[in-house]
Amino acid sequence: MTGRITTPFTAESTAAEVITGIDLTGRRAIVTGGASGIGIETARALAGAGAEVTLAVRDLEAGKRTAADITEGTGGNQVLVAPLDLADQASVADFTERWDDQLHILVNNAGIMASPLMRTPRGWEMQFATNHLGHFALTTGLHRALAAAGGARIVSVSSSAHHRSPVVFDDIHFERRAYDPWLAYGQSKTANVLFAVEATKRWASDGITANALMPGGIRTNLQRYVTDQELDRLRAAAGGAGLRWKTPEQGAATSVLVATSPLLDGIGGRYFEDCNEAETGKLGARSGVAEYALDPEAATRLWEVSVSTLAH
Ligand SMILES: NC(=O)c1ccc[n+]([C@@H]2O[C@H](COP(=O)([O-])OP(=O)(O)OC[C@H]3O[C@@H](n4cnc5c(N)ncnc54)[C@H](OP(=O)(O)O)[C@@H]3O)[C@@H](O)[C@H]2O)c1
Repeated sequence: MTGRITTPFTAESTAAEVITGIDLTGRRAIVTGGASGIGIETARALAGAGAEVTLAVRDLEAGKRTAADITEGTGGNQVLVAPLDLADQASVADFTERWDDQLHILVNNAGIMASPLMRTPRGWEMQFATNHLGHFALTTGLHRALAAAGGARIVSVSSSAHHRSPVVFDDIHFERRAYDPWLAYGQSKTANVLFAVEATKRWASDGITANALMPGGIRTNLQRYVTDQELDRLRAAAGGAGLRWKTPEQGAATSVLVATSPLLDGIGGRYFEDCNEAETGKLGARSGVAEYALDPEAATRLWEVSVSTLAH
């Protein structure tokens, strides 16, 4: 097995810097949540390198504005917009059925954080439903297109918040335990890492690899459910008030690196942060990856649970 992947890039690097010199002409990419926050900068960098990029969004007007803005800046590259609501399985099925031909890069970027208890009509806890189950259905629905690309990459945008919770298989949807918005977020972000582990195991023979990442801390719409006071408290507890926010361009860099760097050719099932592969970290840590998030048995179990959840 290849050792830990390191690159010349750092927490300060931007998406434009990590993609310099990479030509994505003829490649097709999807960025979920591509009309907000780091999704915009991820899409901008991929389109700037010549890829055809589809912004998969639930707010079509925001998608069109973003597509126009990116196209203006990158000069004529194709940026498309398609509706996708990850919390609605019919919408996900619609998206995958309409997708035609190859898919080289899938950036599973959309997400919600620390929302109050909400459930989908099928009773699934909303953060797990959106952040994990929606992307699970999307990616498995696109498997054929990914396999057809030859060397496709899946990017699973996770978070250091995965240290807050493993996937609690006994009660994923908080039916028998008290709801906690941060445990639910943490659980869904652990699921994002486990998904990369199992997708690589199942699909490497199709030339598909999947990796997960922590983008860093970036002020975006993601914090909509969290007060400034609570954010300050969390950041102080995590390592002092001196922690610096990244810009969206820096926040998109690790996603873009994982999606495109030749240093990751054939590499899958790993977790990156600040543009390098992370070391193993401990529960409650702010950096590194928890062992339970890379656990192959948990990854297989999550895949099976996800299949059966979607089927019922
Ligand atoms: N920002 C950070 O500090 C940070 C730290 C760690 C990890 N992350 C991860 O980075 C990713 C991107 O976050 P961000 O900071 O760029 O947040 P953001 O600006 O809020 O963007 C998230 C995107 O996800 C979309 N989304 C939410 N629910 C959806 C649904 N049901 N169907 C389709 N799209 C949906 C949002 O759409 P709407 O605009 O329609 O709501 C939005 O476009 C997330 O996965 C997040 O967990 C971010």
